[in-house]
Amino acid sequence: MSNAKRAMDTYLNGLRNQHAVETQAIGTIQNELPRMEAYPDLHTKMKIDHERSVTQAARLDDLLEKPGSKKSLLKEAVTGAVATVAGFTHAGAGDEVLKNVLAAIGFKAYEISSYKVLIVLAEAAGADDDRSTLEQSMKDEQEMGDWLGSNLPNIVHAYLERKSV
Ligand SMILES: [Fe+2]
Repeated sequence: MSNAKRAMDTYLNGLRNQHAVETQAIGTIQNELPRMEAYPDLHTKMKIDHERSVTQAARLDDLLEKPGSKKSLLKEAVTGAVATVAGFTHAGAGDEVLKNVLAAIGFKAYEISSYKVLIVLAEAAGADDDRSTLEQSMKDEQEMGDWLGSNLPNIVHAYLERKSV
């Protein structure tokens, strides 16, 4: 197998994996949203993250569907990805919201790195046109990760306030 072919295979696999990650994120956020209603800022931001995850999954679909490559062969496998909703929900725990926020911060760090890897793989595979699309998704993830990190103290305070009622 030539280097270029190996790079393309690895890249396509990466796109598929990230599509599965986004699909899982969509299900997980959907599950968690009702329990975040008591935290309006967080709820709003998570709703935006949900919409963005749908867009990111669609972008990955588009990259996999691009004509002129064998990418389309993988389409079926991609759409067959199961939307698992177990994710990082901690049902029943009293500090569920805090745990979910911590898990979401970890998840965002994973996604930022994952898009970074895809950008390098796209370049190695000669799919330079894909770069800006991948960068856009990476920027979304960074923005959400930063927001969660900097709002963590506020969320903890809101949590304590609710507990004291
Ligand atoms: Fe995402």
